[in-house]
Amino acid sequence: MKVCVVGTGYVGLTTGICLAYLGHEVTCVDLNQEKVDLLRGGRSPIYEPFLDELMHEAAHNLTFTTDYAEGVPGAEVVFVAVQTPSLPDGQPDLRYLRMAAESIGRTIDGEFTVVVNKSTVPIGSGNWVESILRESFEQFHSRRAAGEFAVASNPEFLREGSAIHDTLYPDRIVIGSDNPRSLDVLNRLYRAVLNQSFTAPTFLPRPEEVGAVPLVSTDLASAELIKYAANAFLALKISYINEIGKLANKVGADINQVARGTGLDARIGSRFLQPGVGWGGSCFGKDTAALIATAAEYSYDMPIVSAARVVNQRQREEAVNKLLDELRILKGRKIGLLGLAFKPNTDDLRDSPAIDIARLMIARGARVKLHDPIAAERFRVEEPELAASLCESVDEVFDDSDAVVLVTEWPQYLELDWGKYVGLMRTPIILDGRNVLDPQRLSRLGYTYLTIAGRPVGL
Ligand code: UDX
Ligand code: UDX
Repeated sequence: MKVCVVGTGYVGLTTGICLAYLGHEVTCVDLNQEKVDLLRGGRSPIYEPFLDELMHEAAHNLTFTTDYAEGVPGAEVVFVAVQTPSLPDGQPDLRYLRMAAESIGRTIDGEFTVVVNKSTVPIGSGNWVESILRESFEQFHSRRAAGEFAVASNPEFLREGSAIHDTLYPDRIVIGSDNPRSLDVLNRLYRAVLNQSFTAPTFLPRPEEVGAVPLVSTDLASAELIKYAANAFLALKISYINEIGKLANKVGADINQVARGTGLDARIGSRFLQPGVGWGGSCFGKDTAALIATAAEYSYDMPIVSAARVVNQRQREEAVNKLLDELRILKGRKIGLLGLAFKPNTDDLRDSPAIDIARLMIARGARVKLHDPIAAERFRVEEPELAASLCESVDEVFDDSDAVVLVTEWPQYLELDWGKYVGLMRTPIILDGRNVLDPQRLSRLGYTYLTIAGRPVGL
């Protein structure tokens, strides 16, 4: 099928490349010329495992352009995956979505085109996008011009760092539209994923347990709400374990054991019960804020979702408070932070706990020393006022520091030769912000091991 994807961010690019790999003819449109130039040269502007490899394999089905007129005309499906950042009141900023819808309306001319919202949009935006499309279409075409279209919602559930895996082997596919014909088109588009009939890439074999993928086919508003409901649930699951972790601290329990013993209940599930400095990224913060803002429009409040946000912010502050308790004075201290990306295997820094923690430390008068194996380059560009604190090496982070905080659990950090660094530090204090290090081992090596969630060291 002929497909167009507007916006080559984490979501759009992954979607476009995966669909091309599955055999569709895909044109990716992005207004950013620099990104398009990179992509044309076979290089991805973002760090995402296997994306380059898959792009290479699917190159014969992929075109990159800045021109909507090269991608939209004749496409059976047009995905919109432009950014929808939060405004100060929690509502998403829809200006990019409006621009994209106007440009699509101007260029659409297929016999029947489904315009699919991949961007996370407030509930009800499908209808809003449809009205912009219609207005723009009628402005630029004669009323009798060919070009029938409908809007659908197809929320994505991919996690950065495992985006390709999540797209090719999803838990479910959700498609929502009030137009039955668009549901048929999307069903056809995803057939190979739904019945898992495609040949798996050699570097990402199909996991044994993956069988036919369930399809949830629904109306527009339900699909839009599913996206929010799922993300908010995951966010509050993490905040819940973090809240229990604080209590574990007080009563002297080991939160890792508590999480395991709780998560093995199939009704609860063990995933997303990893305690620590909490969630960041482009979705959880934005989507929980938007959910609350949407509910407020109906004079409805959502105390559970609101509490999840409060607990998450508290986790970041807790990182600073823990060090304050231990060091007594933060002014003039040197604090190393390992990891800047909001999670491992991505270079995404949006709403990263590390940035908040660094700022809180600086506000207390500490000097920070920052490191990330992949995201440092992006950090230099996006956080120029903190860039001077970047270190070239892990050695530099530890050297003469009063404490080091593990903020992002990159595998490289888990495998560090911790024995080598203990002597480099002024005071060998480690704050394990992700509850992933071995407290006994670090204590044996001479570190003072601190954790945000309950995990007694004297085990
Ligand atoms: C995605 C979704 O779109 C967002 O709604 C969801 O909540 C998080 O994931 P992401 O893919 O991470 O966002 O966005 P981003 O990396 O910012 O990429 C968006 C791209 O769209 C950029 O490359 C930008 O240049 C491009 N763009 C934006 C256009 O091509 N046209 C526009 O009019 C606006
Ligand atoms: C999330 C959703 O998982 C995905 O379905 C949606 O489409 C986009 O938002 P993403 O933000 O890429 O994906 O990453 P995710 O793996 O969900 O992690 C989000 C944050 O939660 C990270 O900062 C991570 O460190 C943190 N996290 C995750 C925890 O603190 N504990 C956990 O147990 C799991």
